[in-house]
Amino acid sequence: MKLAILPGDGIGPEIVAQAVKVLDVLRGDGMAIEMEHAPIGGAGYDAAGDPLPEATLRLAREADAVLLGAVGGPQYDALDRPLRPERGLLRIRKALNLFANLRPALLYPELASASSLKPEVVAGLDIMIVRELTGDVYFGQPRGIELRNGERVGFNTMLYTESEVRRVAHVAFDIAMKRGRRLCSVEKANVLECSELWKAVMIEVARDYPEVELTHMYVDNAAMQLVRAPKQFDTIVTGNIFGDILSDAASMLSGSIGMLPSASLDEHGKGMYEPIHGSAPDIAGRDLANPLATILSLAMMFKYTFGDEATAARIENAVKRVIAQGYRTGDIWTEGTTRVSCSGMGDAVVAAM
Ligand code: IPM
Ligand code: MG
Repeated sequence: MKLAILPGDGIGPEIVAQAVKVLDVLRGDGMAIEMEHAPIGGAGYDAAGDPLPEATLRLAREADAVLLGAVGGPQYDALDRPLRPERGLLRIRKALNLFANLRPALLYPELASASSLKPEVVAGLDIMIVRELTGDVYFGQPRGIELRNGERVGFNTMLYTESEVRRVAHVAFDIAMKRGRRLCSVEKANVLECSELWKAVMIEVARDYPEVELTHMYVDNAAMQLVRAPKQFDTIVTGNIFGDILSDAASMLSGSIGMLPSASLDEHGKGMYEPIHGSAPDIAGRDLANPLATILSLAMMFKYTFGDEATAARIENAVKRVIAQGYRTGDIWTEGTTRVSCSGMGDAVVAAM
């Protein structure tokens, strides 16, 4: 297994280092894992003047899977847009054709009190959000800021081709088949033509999956339902921008955004794995961050790219065990539990393995 390890910025290097400890355990047990590190985001800009250096992209292309930390930081916010860390992330997603972004929101029972919602609202929560990742207003042309009639105008284009919708629909239906066989497609078809097409294609694809119950929901209602009664959802499929927003909201149901992993997959199951949270510059370098989303992203890697459910389960069970043992980083700490550092949490997971 050849892995490209891209720590990125802010807390990225700290959390990725904990995941690498987990990989080292697996290597020690005889698994043939090769890792190579490369800079991306602000680190890429610092090293090579480009948030996605050519050598990093080449490494990612040659690898079987990519593990990414996080990108971005205030020191890069004034750079020209193409040089900003976020652009490096968007470019690697696009270059590797990682159109299907899987973001599970799962509540560990012991963390119910860390959620901002009432425990009974979130207990037993298990949602899978499938976010389209290489289209939509994130990539649509034209885009820009220009002068019109003496004032600045900012514009972007929300655009989906039917083939883009169809391929992510298939991924979502396949996942729903393996879960509760209920798929909710989220859009804004009452206002947007782009969403009207999205919905129509979803209905077409649904014919191939008679066992899956397809429902439709407007994104504003979905945002409300996610915090009102989140357990009504099984699998959600939605576009890039709606998925970006809804997955952050969903993360809070699980207690902390520091708990949520993600997989970004291409047509062949090659993937990039990253926590859904950002680079948290405010706590970077202080050994405070929660590495569990990154470690759980590794579990997704074994499951989705390597088809190794046993190793995925081993990592997930180790995480469950440290949670059950009461270890908590600051973001999920509550009275009566044991506060640990980022590296302390990594060590606890290694010990549990
Ligand atoms: C995410 C992030 C990214 C996105 C940013 C960092 C570009 O918010 O992965 O959800 O908007 O996709
Ligand atoms: Mg986001």
